[in-house]
Parts: sequence; structure tokens; C-alpha cells
Amino acid sequence: MFTILTGAQFGDEGKGKVVDLLAEKYDIIVRFQGGDNAGHTVKVGDKTYKLHLTPSGVLFGKRLLIGPGVVLNPRVLWEEIDTLRHSGLEVDIGIDPKTTIIMPYHIELDSLREKARSDKIGTTKRGIGYAYIDKIARDEVQMGDLTDPARLQAKLEEIAPAKEKAIADMGGDPTVVRFQPYLDEYLEIGARLKDSLTDVSLEINLALDDDKMVLAEGAQGAFLDVIHGTQKFVTSSFTTAGSACANLGVGPVRVDNVVGVLKAYLTRVGEGPMPTELKNQMGEHLREKGHEFGTTTGRPRRCGWFDAVLARKSVYLNGYTELALTKLDVLSGMDPLKVCVSYDLDGELLGYPPESTEEFSRCIPVYEDVPGWSEDITAAQEYDELPKNAREYVEWLEGLLQVDISAVSVGPGREQTIYRE
Ligand code: GDP
Ligand code: IMO
Ligand code: MG
Repeated sequence: MFTILTGAQFGDEGKGKVVDLLAEKYDIIVRFQGGDNAGHTVKVGDKTYKLHLTPSGVLFGKRLLIGPGVVLNPRVLWEEIDTLRHSGLEVDIGIDPKTTIIMPYHIELDSLREKARSDKIGTTKRGIGYAYIDKIARDEVQMGDLTDPARLQAKLEEIAPAKEKAIADMGGDPTVVRFQPYLDEYLEIGARLKDSLTDVSLEINLALDDDKMVLAEGAQGAFLDVIHGTQKFVTSSFTTAGSACANLGVGPVRVDNVVGVLKAYLTRVGEGPMPTELKNQMGEHLREKGHEFGTTTGRPRRCGWFDAVLARKSVYLNGYTELALTKLDVLSGMDPLKVCVSYDLDGELLGYPPESTEEFSRCIPVYEDVPGWSEDITAAQEYDELPKNAREYVEWLEGLLQVDISAVSVGPGREQTIYRE
């Protein structure tokens, strides 16, 4: 069985929690895009794990894979593996040798660009975009190169002059490109990870031939997708479900289901349009109650009402077969709740987001009021234990999106999850 799970909004929907919940049933959990710009939180008992590269199935000791469509900072991965092993977890990880490596100069270029330009994207400054540029330009360093010092050296000879010039032109320090201590550290990590290299496409296809269960864990969210998101305020990878097949080398007919993770309201971190953003007390309340601060950068997340117009598009972009709705507990005590059901663009009512980011940024949300509930729902175990208005909110969203909401999350803990028939 092959399941793809993706974020249905602007990232941070609670993918880490949902992957951890599903992972028990799966044999392999694999990351297929993005890099350590992701921050996936898994809370078990009183322990909280913030994972940037390690797939969120690690707490069940499952086989973990990093596919070649990921951009990998080896330092971050090594530190993460080390910390997890020190906390007593078994980390059985396989990395595709074709995985693009984020070099220190990618991070430098990302920071310089954000500093220099007035049209900031608000990136995580992890070098993501610049690493993907090099992949497309065929100037990348790959994971396999880190296990062969001579090959890495030869590649760098080719690549270095253009990188040094780019950094110098942007006012940075070009010596970072060939800084030997960095290269030595990368090679050392390469040597440690040499035995973990694997052909991820082959491993997944063989596992599926064997009727094993494979779960592809998306990072970011639909509207950060480099094609279908709110360009240019997006990440540099393909974040929707179809990308899992292309990036992992698995045929689309092998996909059995596609799970979307949706927050019961909306958040966004970084720049870019967000029609339902609440720049008021209510937005502050959501941020405080939902602890909406970036897992990777600590930046406050922008908060707003649930946007059903965007969610509808996400259902199309991903072809969801089911949805997990997270953070319903955060809405307790807000009455009435609002849900954006259409946009007003220059006097015209739209039920689907416009393609142009410029037009999207001018959309004014049209809301429907939905009655709220006052009860704390964080201890609810069964769907019937939820207040009537909370159930109606879930069912109303389900009706709007025409996809089953099969799980409702009412807190960060594993046990704070309600499964629906
Ligand atoms: P991801 O990037 O999609 O994995 O999401 P993040 O981990 O960046 O952000 C989600 C945050 O919400 C994490 O701190 C989770 O522990 C927390 N969380 C997940 N589900 C729930 C929920 O249902 N209720 C509450 N209150 N917190 C949740
Ligand atoms: P997870 O997987 C939320 C945002 C950044 C910025 C834009 C581009 O935890 O949901 P980048 O560094 O990728 O070039 O930044 O994308 N962004 C995220 N926002 N969750 C994420 O990941 C994100 N990864 C990147 O804030 O706006
Ligand atoms: Mg996150």
C-alpha cells in the first residue's frame, strides 16, 4: 500500500503528528521533497521531537528513507540522527545517493538575497532555493559525492568560480565556497553515512511488490508549491501529492490513497498574500492559544480564519482521498467562528482562487458565521464527546470540501486524536 500525505495549506498543518499516528501501521516512511526548512513536531507523552529531515516515523523505529528530490543539509541530518540515537531511538535510515546537498554557499546566497532585496520572501534561510537552482542547472553536489573526496573535489573545481563570483557580487564573503573545514566536515559525515546509501526508488518499488506499507511524508503545503502556490512567495519544491511519485520514482498507478492535513483555521509564516489573515486581537489569540511560532525559525506565524476557497483548490491539486483536521481545540471559546466561503475580487464573487498572485492578494474574503462552542475539547476521545457545534463545524467543512475528514486532532498528543468511521 502506498500512501501520500501532504500539507493542504501553507505548511505547519500538523503533518508530523499525523505521520507519527499513521506510522505504526507502515513499514517505510519517506521524505520526497524540501529540506530542513521543514519542522515537523511529534509529541509523545512529555517528550517533544522537532524533526527537520528525519521522517516522522522514527519514533516507531520504522525504516526511514530520504528520496533524491530532497535537498539535504548533512550537518542538520547528522545532528538530528545523533540526538535521536542519544535519546535511545533506533534510526534505520536510507538516503538516495542522488539527493542534492545543501552546501554552505547555498545558505550564504539565500541569506544575502533576503538581506539585499526589498521584495523579501521571508525564507527560512536554509539555502533551499539555491540548492534547487543548482539541481536544475545540473551544478549540484549529490549525497554520493560526499563519500568520494576526489569526486567532490573535482565537482567543486567546476562549480566554485561561479559561486564565488555570485557571493562577492552580492557583497558576501566568497571564501565560504572552498572553506576547507566545512568540506572536511561534509566528507566526514559522508563517510559516516556511506552504508546508509540506497536506491530509494528501487527500495520502495520492491517493498510495494512485497505488499509492504509505504508512507510518503510531504513537507510544506499546497500553497507553498513552486508551481501552484502563491508565486513568488513559495518554497522552491513541488509540494503536492503528484510530486511524491515523480520525486521518488514510483508510478502514479501504485498510489492507494492521499491524505491531506488541514488546520481548523489558517496560518502562514513568511511573506505573501493570505486573504483571511487577522491582524487584530483575534489573530493574536489564535497565535497564543495555538502556539503558532515557527518550528524551524521561531518566527510568529500569521493567523486567520479557515479559508475554504483555498482548501477547495488544495483538494484538486492533491486529489485527497481523506483529510485529517488538526487543532480543532484551539477554536474552543471563539463564537461565532468564521469560514471564508468565497472571495470578492473587484466586485465579482469567486468560489475558486484566481491564478494570478497579484489578483489573489486583492481578494477580500467573504465569510459565513458558524456557531462556536465554549467547552475544552482536549480530552475528547470519541467523536460523540465533542460539543454539537464542534461536530457541525467538522461536518460543514467536510460538506464544503467533499472529502471525508477521517481524523480530528484536539491537541498535540498522540492520544488527542478522534477517528471517525
Ligand atoms: P508540520 O510542519 O505540519 O508537521 O506542523 P508543525 O509541527 O510545524 O506545527 C504544528 C504544531 O501544532 C506542533 O507544535 C504540534 O505539536 C501542534 N499540534 C498538532 N496537532 C495539534 C492539535 O490538534 N492541537 C494543538 N493544540 N496542537 C497541535
Ligand atoms: P513544514 O514542512 C511553513 C516558507 C517560508 C517562506 C517560504 C520559502 O514545517 O510545514 P524556503 O526557506 O523554503 O525557501 O522559504 O516557505 N516555508 C514554510 N512555512 N512550514 C514549512 O515547512 C515551511 N517551509 C518553508 O517561511 O515563506
Ligand atoms: Mg512545520
